[in-house]
Amino acid sequence: MNPEVTKLIRNASYIDGAWVENDQSFAVVDKANGDPIALVADASTDQMRQAIASAKVAFPAWAGLTAAARSQYLKKWYSLMMQHQDALAELLTREQGKPLAEAKGEIAYGAGYIDWFAEEARRIDGDILPAANGGQRIQVTKRPVGVVGAITPWNFPNAMIARKAAAALAAGCTFVVRPAAETPLSALAMAELAHQAGIPAGVLNVVVGTDAQGLGRELTQSKDVAKFSFTGSTRVGRILIADCANTVKRVSMELGGNAPFIVFDDADIDAAIEGAMVSKFRNAGQTCVCANRFLVQDRVFDEFVAKLSEKVKALRSGHGLDGVEIGPLITDKAAANVHKLVSSAVEQGAQVLLGGDWQQGAFYPPTILSGVNSEMDIFSQEIFGPVVTLVRFSTEDEAIALANDTEYGLASYFYARDIGRVHRVADALEFGMVGINEGIISNPAAPFGGVKQSGYGREGSKYGLDDYMSVQYRCLGGINRGN
Ligand code: SIN
Repeated sequence: MNPEVTKLIRNASYIDGAWVENDQSFAVVDKANGDPIALVADASTDQMRQAIASAKVAFPAWAGLTAAARSQYLKKWYSLMMQHQDALAELLTREQGKPLAEAKGEIAYGAGYIDWFAEEARRIDGDILPAANGGQRIQVTKRPVGVVGAITPWNFPNAMIARKAAAALAAGCTFVVRPAAETPLSALAMAELAHQAGIPAGVLNVVVGTDAQGLGRELTQSKDVAKFSFTGSTRVGRILIADCANTVKRVSMELGGNAPFIVFDDADIDAAIEGAMVSKFRNAGQTCVCANRFLVQDRVFDEFVAKLSEKVKALRSGHGLDGVEIGPLITDKAAANVHKLVSSAVEQGAQVLLGGDWQQGAFYPPTILSGVNSEMDIFSQEIFGPVVTLVRFSTEDEAIALANDTEYGLASYFYARDIGRVHRVADALEFGMVGINEGIISNPAAPFGGVKQSGYGREGSKYGLDDYMSVQYRCLGGINRGN
């Protein structure tokens, strides 16, 4: 392992500005070959309570800093992340599995949120509104909500923390995160760099441990946590929303997706192929915004499938550090789940055009299935693997109905050149995000988030701070002379 990577490995939770050991530990392994990378102290629920307490103590001073001062800390953190981009990326590839080029992209993407919110911090403002009564003035100010708790997933172990933590810290909140136990090292490396950036003790806490339920409950049920933010599956999101109800917390949920990728017959097919490849195969299909269902219009169906098959055949799988395009899935079980969906679709009449021949292990072969329909589980469930499912349609109305035929509403994509169609289809899609002639839409300047059972709240962009602030209305009376 590159010594620069070793220097960033930390083996314990980061609480109140210090590394906190525990008797129990758990192993973090290389997802491509199972080699051990590190043993990490397995945090207890008591330690989670300490982290929340330290965030509570740190809150008034952090919230009391000027926005410019908070911005400077975030800028420093951003610079350190970019200085260590290569080492952070190697660590991420080893513990998560994605190809190194993608891991480097994720570090820049995550750091981009820190940079973005460092700037947004300085633009938090208020309002003066016209009052109904001439003797009054209405002032509106925005204030940080307090301690923020977060749970983040293994598929983007850096960027999902960055986009929550940066917004929270910029708004003046303090932060406690429990990252996925599969990928704690990227999170701890971020904490180390935040420490080097001088972010005060208690402002950012990273609690790593295998007791997902116990650690999660401390966050969702604590009276001292004012807001909770989660990225993960809709199934777990529902439980967490219910857990937050007792303390009436502010909640943001970035949950599952089932993105349609529609190719209309006026599309630029080569552009659609490029978009399809990045949208489908980023992180081996393990993103909430991955294209899940390819809806292709009759007239261009054969051309699209032929060109896509050529590209998919050329994908190389292997260890992410070996210059491949496809890494392993997060576990063997994840690959088995993908295979179950593929096998059941085939039993129900789908045809395998490519791949589909998995026996065991975490690597799932890039696969194309044709003849998929809305009765199949693979149409309605998030695949989270490198599988293209093809559905043929004839009319625009049919495509829109198929696209919206899901409980999810995160990302959607379509390719078309007709300007009227572009507007009609975008208006009709029931999704929080729409990529129009684009396969990658994630960007710190854009509001990321879903509708329906994909959740609520927005991350990134000027909208991303709102979830971390509450509005205070002040009614100032006695303005009229003689009052
Ligand atoms: C996700 O899969 O939840 C995040 C993907 C992204 O930010 O692009």
